[in-house]
Amino acid sequence: MNLKLIVHTVLEDYALPWHGTHGVSHWARVLENGLRLAEVTGASIDVVQLFAVFHDCCRVNEGTDFGHGKRAAEYAAQLQGAVFDLPDDDFRLLYDACAGHTDGVTTGDNTIQTCWDADRLDLGRVGVCPEAARLCTEAAKEPETIKWADGRACFRVIPEIVEAEWGIDTAGWGQV
Ligand SMILES: [Fe+2]
Repeated sequence: MNLKLIVHTVLEDYALPWHGTHGVSHWARVLENGLRLAEVTGASIDVVQLFAVFHDCCRVNEGTDFGHGKRAAEYAAQLQGAVFDLPDDDFRLLYDACAGHTDGVTTGDNTIQTCWDADRLDLGRVGVCPEAARLCTEAAKEPETIKWADGRACFRVIPEIVEAEWGIDTAGWGQV
């Protein structure tokens, strides 16, 4: 899977600032949150990575944007088989994870739960501390995990993968 190509394809259609609240650094933190959780939960790594890049990519504003999860799922369906190619079962997980990520649900498939937790662990960037009761997996509820992820979220840390792997120049983005 060529995640750099996927990221740049998605960015061609992304309507909001790349450095914004729901932009590239959020995607990268969600990805790293998800990879950390997947070590424990056993979630599909491909689905976790694609969820990180797709779940907010069809937003049209940085606030309450009804329907952006479903739009992201449909957008991912357009690129499936063209820019990436997941097995059907994994694609269904990606689709459902994107479509349902704003509903506040905490139960369901393990990979989907991991995706949602990866996103919710980054709420500190908008001043919301993740609550264990609103997380899905035991791995995410670990105080050590919340502390690690929230520390990065609050400072809007830009993960190294943004420049090193995705080739995106972050100069001038700042971190807060
Ligand atoms: Fe998100």
